[in-house]
Amino acid sequence: MATMEKKKPRTIEELGVSSTIINKLREAGYTTIESIAVATAQELSTIVGIPLATAQKLIAAAREALDIRFKTALELKKERMNIGKVTTGSKALDNLLGGGVETKTITEFFGEYGTGKTQLCHQLVVNVQLPVEKGGLSARAVYIDSEGTFRWERIESMARAVGLDPDQVMENILYIRALNSDHQMAIVEELRTLIPKENIRLVALDSVTGHFRAEYPGRENLAIRQQKLNRHLHQLMQIAEIYNVAVIITNQVMARPDVFFGDPTVAVGGHVLYHTPGVRIQLRKSRGNKRIARVVDAPHLPEGEAVFIITDEGIRDAE
Ligand SMILES: Nc1ncnc2c1ncn2[C@@H]1O[C@H](COP(=O)(O)OP(=O)(O)O)[C@@H](O)[C@H]1O
Ligand SMILES: [Mg+2]
Repeated sequence: MATMEKKKPRTIEELGVSSTIINKLREAGYTTIESIAVATAQELSTIVGIPLATAQKLIAAAREALDIRFKTALELKKERMNIGKVTTGSKALDNLLGGGVETKTITEFFGEYGTGKTQLCHQLVVNVQLPVEKGGLSARAVYIDSEGTFRWERIESMARAVGLDPDQVMENILYIRALNSDHQMAIVEELRTLIPKENIRLVALDSVTGHFRAEYPGRENLAIRQQKLNRHLHQLMQIAEIYNVAVIITNQVMARPDVFFGDPTVAVGGHVLYHTPGVRIQLRKSRGNKRIARVVDAPHLPEGEAVFIITDEGIRDAE
């Protein structure tokens, strides 16, 4: 356990190699610790032009940094205990999620317009700031907004409603507007340096798919769109796992699922996570401010639905 708390290198600069070697690595395309960890010593030595022994040491350091090694099942159990959970504001929805949204996981909320995806993102960047006993992680959050629907006014109301100081809560949310899909991916890369510095335990990305759908429309662009989106999801998965943060993504789908027939960016049922590990929650409208959440293909979570409401104070249990 103690080793989990030790500060591990996050960038290749922090691996403790000379700037000459770092430059060589960069030039050869090894820009992250992950890329080194999965290389073979032979390949690294040849491509980068460094001695085999140096390459071996570098790979060992990268694997150590990412904690890639055989582990006992007991260690896995203990790591599992490091996972944090953040309340959604609704006990029913928390129960459906197995206690709240989890760190080291991507949680996708998908559904039609107006089902509460954006409200949930707002609520979660507030709630992660709560102390653990109140369902938070006493941590800060990142909000990546691709659609321009972030409202600080909502944060203020939600913060007040959970008894936190609104200004302080807003100070603890690092907001950025993603201008296009490339920018969105670059932002996620930046998180690798931002997160370790800023005590961030939750990243909300609303929406993950908007720019990709707009830039790669139609069937003729499906392959490239999916390829890029997969890369993006992989990036997000790494962020979640390596930095022990909760990643929340939203995905707007249309009422008629047949519109998406044959569109691989939208699996049957509408989600994008698809081959990526994570939790997919489908949202539907019910009467008035009621919404219904359902877990989609998660064998480890109980089947069923949760009803919650969207109020001026935020996400709450339905009466
Ligand atoms: N201040 C508020 N008080 C009560 N309900 C609100 C408030 N702001 C937004 N809502 C509700 O949230 C819903 C919109 O949810 P939103 O998260 O924007 O949907 P999505 O992102 O899924 O399109 C609206 O139906 C609206 O009724
Ligand atoms: Mg929205």
